[in-house]
Amino acid sequence: MELKYLKRALLWVKELSITLLKFWINNPKETPAILVFILEKLIASPRFFAKNVLVEKHTKKATTAINKTVLLYKKYGKSFDYTKQKSYEVLEPHLWSKFQILYFLVRKLKPKNVVETGVAAGESTGYILRALKDNGFGKLYSIDLPFQWYIYGNHKLHLDSLPAGKIPGFLVPANLKTNWKLFLGNTRDKLPVLLKELGEINIFFHDSEHSDKTMAFEYETCWPYIKKNGLLVSDDISYEKTFKKFTNKIKAIFFRFQEFGIIKK
Ligand SMILES: C[S@@+](CC[C@H](N)C(=O)[O-])C[C@H]1O[C@@H](n2cnc3c(N)ncnc32)[C@H](O)[C@@H]1O
Repeated sequence: MELKYLKRALLWVKELSITLLKFWINNPKETPAILVFILEKLIASPRFFAKNVLVEKHTKKATTAINKTVLLYKKYGKSFDYTKQKSYEVLEPHLWSKFQILYFLVRKLKPKNVVETGVAAGESTGYILRALKDNGFGKLYSIDLPFQWYIYGNHKLHLDSLPAGKIPGFLVPANLKTNWKLFLGNTRDKLPVLLKELGEINIFFHDSEHSDKTMAFEYETCWPYIKKNGLLVSDDISYEKTFKKFTNKIKAIFFRFQEFGIIKK
């Protein structure tokens, strides 16, 4: 193993152990969720390890998948219509990443402003930014916390791990970063300020914490700022009943692609 990987692995393991221990001490009631997490990660250890330590390999893979998606859009983009379930059927056999849908939506809608919550390594961010680049205009504003352990939905421990020393979005190819602004902080503080500053947005994408509280807060906060014909897109809509409750409340129909919910304003 190369020395840089060894160093990164040691740093990463140290960071994980210390922060998990702190989280455990502060959340003793979550012991079962913490033990399940440790067991799951031990079973999946080569994959978990590779993702967080062999960063360069992972980055290359992500860029290749984006390039393949661009070719796919050339083939199916013209006929792609997110309001028709048939369009998703065409996409499904060619999915290397669930975030390919974001590339298709952004290419179709040609947004001026996109807001995203939840960046982590930056897979979704990369798809959105590449679509904006291919559109020739548009900006992406993302919000994320640097590193955290949290419990979501039905008491599952989640780690948004970043390889030691990396910040959110480390996977995003450097040439796409010019149309991107990243805000580090909690969406509860950052989102209202950002939206007020932008005035209106064309697409909002939720992929931060999938708890009822955070999902409801982000949907409610962004909705008034989304322009007519714009989109509210949410990942992992089945984690909580929040998305369904929100669509009922605003009396909107939504389109579903796997775990994504898409509401047209
Ligand atoms: C599911 S991951 C995002 C995955 C990402 N979209 C991707 O393409 O891989 C969730 C991210 O949301 C962030 N997050 C969770 N709660 C947050 C909050 N209240 N405010 C800002 N970011 C938050 C975490 O730090 C984590 O990076």
